[in-house]
Amino acid sequence: MAATMESLIGLVNRIQRACTALGDYGGDDTTFSSLWDALPSVAVVGGQSSGKSSVLESIVGRDFLPRGSGIVTRRPLVLQLHKTEGRQEEYAEFGHMPRRRFTDFALVRKEIQDETDRITGKSKQISPIPIHLSIYSPNVVNLTLIDLPGLTKVAVEGQPETIVEDIEKMVRTYVEKPNSIILAISPANQDIATSDAMKLAREVDPSGKRTFGVLTKLDLMDKGTNALDVLEGRAYRLQHPWVGIVNRSQADINKNTDMIYARRREQEYFATSPDYGHLASKMGSAYLAKLLSQHLESVIKAKIPGITSLINKGVDEMEAELDHLGRPIAVDAGAQMYTILELCRAFDKIFKEHLD
Ligand code: GDP
Ligand code: NA
Ligand code: MG
Repeated sequence: MAATMESLIGLVNRIQRACTALGDYGGDDTTFSSLWDALPSVAVVGGQSSGKSSVLESIVGRDFLPRGSGIVTRRPLVLQLHKTEGRQEEYAEFGHMPRRRFTDFALVRKEIQDETDRITGKSKQISPIPIHLSIYSPNVVNLTLIDLPGLTKVAVEGQPETIVEDIEKMVRTYVEKPNSIILAISPANQDIATSDAMKLAREVDPSGKRTFGVLTKLDLMDKGTNALDVLEGRAYRLQHPWVGIVNRSQADINKNTDMIYARRREQEYFATSPDYGHLASKMGSAYLAKLLSQHLESVIKAKIPGITSLINKGVDEMEAELDHLGRPIAVDAGAQMYTILELCRAFDKIFKEHLD
């Protein structure tokens, strides 16, 4: 059973990727864009510098995201994590350069920056066109995460006045989708009542059924205070448990502190904390990754009937299109369609096994 669900997420990942590649050809992909929307993914939202990129890196266990002050994330990054078996080397692949395997994660960071600039110019503009990145590793859980520009309150030098609204609008298009799971990041050293992430999450998901609250920077709270009110769900009620996080500090990043070491140190922080010791097994990035993956599995499972009917509709349309060779079709697009067709059939098969 667990193995079946594991491969379901893997398949959904591959279908999403193939749909995206097909979408790039600008073909008639209406069924496949609704298929993409029907598949759940996790959108990471929060104010600037709340710790979004740090949480993502911690979940992946690698250092690969551009960072700095100001608006660093200026295009959505759709990050698909694929768990591989055995002692295989970790590598990354971009949707826009499918034939290149990155094993040096510093080059992944550089490519995200370059690809951002290719669309937005060197300006501080944002663009809603996503960058697709897949990471293959034995150390990840199967998960699709979307890193989004940070919510902000004021435009800075060189940015258009509309940037505040533009960012909010972009983030909204992701979190409004009923299938999106919201990873709402708030820093513990600010009042939760002022959290940009919680404000937006409350608006689009008032019952809190698809919001996961994450509290970062617990180590930066004033001495003598703690975040138990939030972590135990009294300050802000959600249907899922809150997860507290201690990411690497800026000093750690400057010193190149190893991610795996940082994760272990985070675990120790909770285990030895007089305030949070009793919650230690449900805190930290590794626990968050597991929680999200499990939730994603259960959501996919619940959505299987709807997804299957969309897939069948898509397969019919695609077969008709492939038969209909009257209009020219790009060779790569044709190959992509066959890929989706195969994946959809595999999905259908696994689904039927799952029902038995
Ligand atoms: P983003 O703008 O939301 O993506 O935030 P980043 O992940 O880039 O983090 C912004 C800054 O806060 C960086 O200097 C991080 O090192 C720091 N930071 C993030 N989370 C924590 C945390 O849990 N503890 C500490 N001490 N620093 C953190
Ligand atoms: Na930042
Ligand atoms: Mg960031």
